[in-house]
Amino acid sequence: MTRDPAVRRLDDWGAPELRDLANEYGTPLYVLDLDRVARNFERVQAAFPNAAVHYAAKANAGRAVLSRLATEGAGVECASAGEVERALEAGFAGEDVLYTAVNPPAADLDTVVALARDRPELTITAGARDTVDRLAERGYDGRLCLRVHPGTGAGHGESVATGGDASFGVPAADVPALLEDASDRGFDVVGVHAHTGSGLSNEDRESHLAVVETLASVAERTTVDLEFVDVGGGFGVPYRPEEPPLDLDPIAEATREALAHLDVDLVVEPGRYLVADAGVLLTTVNTVKPAGEQGTFAGVDAGMTTLLRPALYDAFHHVRSLEPDTADREETAVTVVGPVCESTDVLAEGRRLPEPDRGDRLAIGNAGAYGIEMANQYTSRPRPAVVALEHGEDRIVRRRETTEDITAMEEP
Ligand code: LLP
Repeated sequence: MTRDPAVRRLDDWGAPELRDLANEYGTPLYVLDLDRVARNFERVQAAFPNAAVHYAAKANAGRAVLSRLATEGAGVECASAGEVERALEAGFAGEDVLYTAVNPPAADLDTVVALARDRPELTITAGARDTVDRLAERGYDGRLCLRVHPGTGAGHGESVATGGDASFGVPAADVPALLEDASDRGFDVVGVHAHTGSGLSNEDRESHLAVVETLASVAERTTVDLEFVDVGGGFGVPYRPEEPPLDLDPIAEATREALAHLDVDLVVEPGRYLVADAGVLLTTVNTVKPAGEQGTFAGVDAGMTTLLRPALYDAFHHVRSLEPDTADREETAVTVVGPVCESTDVLAEGRRLPEPDRGDRLAIGNAGAYGIEMANQYTSRPRPAVVALEHGEDRIVRRRETTEDITAMEEP
C-alpha cells in the first residue's frame, strides 16, 4: 500500500481539474476532497492506534464531511447543540458524540439534555462547576466529562491558544474534588479533557505534552474511576509551502507514555488536521490594478466573507494561478483583495504570481478547515457553494446561496 503523503500541498491538486470545476460550478467555490478527509482520518488512527478519534466538527460541519467520517468510524466532538443535531442527522450515534459545553447557552443545554435522554451514551463535557449545576437543574445525571484548564496553551496565534485561557475549563487543582462531587451527586463521571490550542506545530510539542501531563496528574489524583482522558485536538498543518508537516508520531508516543500507568482510554479531537488540506477555494480575478511599489492588486470574487482567516488571524493561505498559459507573463508581487470595503479584506499579500489578468482562476490552499464554516453574509454577499470530490466523482454538497436566502428570515 502506498503511504499517503503527510500533507497535500496546493501544487498537488491538478490545475485543469480545478479549472473545470470553476467553469462548471462558478466561483467562489469550495472544493472538498472527501477521500482525502478519510485518508487523514486513517493517518490519525495510525498514529494513535488505540485512541478514539473524535472529529472536531467546528472545522467543517458540512453534512457530507460528517457523514463520510461517521461511515469511516470516527466519533465527533461538538461545540454547540446545533453541531450535535447535525452530527446525529449525518449518521453519528449517541455514543460517538462528545458535546463540549463552552459557556453553553440555556437553549443548548436544553436541547442536548433532551437528546441525551434517548441516547444515554452521549457524553457532555462541562468546563465550570456552574455548568455541572445547570446540567443537574435539568435533571441530567448522565455521562459527564470535565474540562481542565491546564494553565498553558499553544497554537498558531494568541486567539487560539485556548489552554492558556482561564475562561475554558476548571483549574487543574480544583478538578479532582469537582469530579468526586459530581460523582457523589449521581453523575456518571467518565473523563477529563483539555485542549492545548489550535494549529500546533512541531515546536509546540513540549507545550502540548505539558497539558497531557497535567491531565495525567489530575486522573491520578481523583478517586473516581475514569473511562477516558481526552487530550483535545489542535494538530496543525503547514500553510506555507516551505513549512514542514507536523510529525504526529512523537506526539502520539509521548502521549501514550504519559498515560501508560493509568487504566484509561485515550481520546483525541482533531479538526483542522482532517479537513484543511482536503479543501481548496477557487476564485476569479475581476479587477486588476497597479499597486505601485507593491506590484499589482488582483481583486477577486472571494474575500473576508468567504474565507475569514486572513482578516481575522492574519493567517497565511498559499495562492496559485490555475491558468495554463502563464509562461509568457512576468512574475510579479500580487496582493489578492476581496470585494468588501475594509482594509482587512486581503486574502494574500505580495505573492510571487504571474501578472494577473481579468478572468484568471486562482486556487487558495488549505481551505477545508474553518473556511466555509466561518463564511458569512456581511455586505449581503451570499455564501459560496461547496463541491465534494468522492470516489472519482464531483457533486454539489452545498448550493450557492442567493439574495433570497439572505432575506428569507426578514419581515417587513
Ligand atoms: N477540541 C476543542 C475543545 C476545540 O476547542 C477545538 C478548536 C478543537 C478540538 C479542534 O481544534 P483543531 O484540531 O481544529 O485545531 N477558527 C480557528 C480555529 C479555532 C479552533 C477552536 N477550537 C482557525 O481558523 O484557525
